[in-house]
Amino acid sequence: MKVVVIQGPNLNLLGHREQNLYGSMKLEEIHTQMENIAKQNSIEIEFFQSNLEGEIVDRIQECIGDADGIIINPAAYTHTSIAIRDAIVAASMPVIEVHISNIYRREEFRSKSLIAPVSTGQICGFGPFGYHLAMVSITQILGEIAAQRKMKKTQAENK
Ligand code: DQA
Repeated sequence: MKVVVIQGPNLNLLGHREQNLYGSMKLEEIHTQMENIAKQNSIEIEFFQSNLEGEIVDRIQECIGDADGIIINPAAYTHTSIAIRDAIVAASMPVIEVHISNIYRREEFRSKSLIAPVSTGQICGFGPFGYHLAMVSITQILGEIAAQRKMKKTQAENK
């Protein structure tokens, strides 16, 4: 099983940008923690960060046929990007949307996510710990999918 973690614009500045909202952890530190959880669960994991909408769309498209699940913080594009939303629909796999801050208790324009209606679930407002929660969630979801596939295979073999 393979998970791709996609980080949107300005998340490369974590640890430096608005620490009151996003905490002091750097993106690399968050990714190291996620990598540890992935290892414990025998999940392959890849990380990608971009400040460009089209690059994020490209990376989601590359997941088709290559990955089993996506964890994405689309950052500011959450509130504007129909292109990222459409790419997620096209990818047709479990997608966990993460926000470090609670987007519902900030400016009005942040309370609308174009991504949430096409995601499996959203984790928001738990600080960098949200990425840990996302890893636990995707591990559970992929585990269930694998178990279902195995059951179907056994049923087909026993027919
Ligand atoms: C964010 C919330 C967005 O509104 C904002 O533009 C970000 C980060 C978060 O993780 O809380 O860049 O996605």
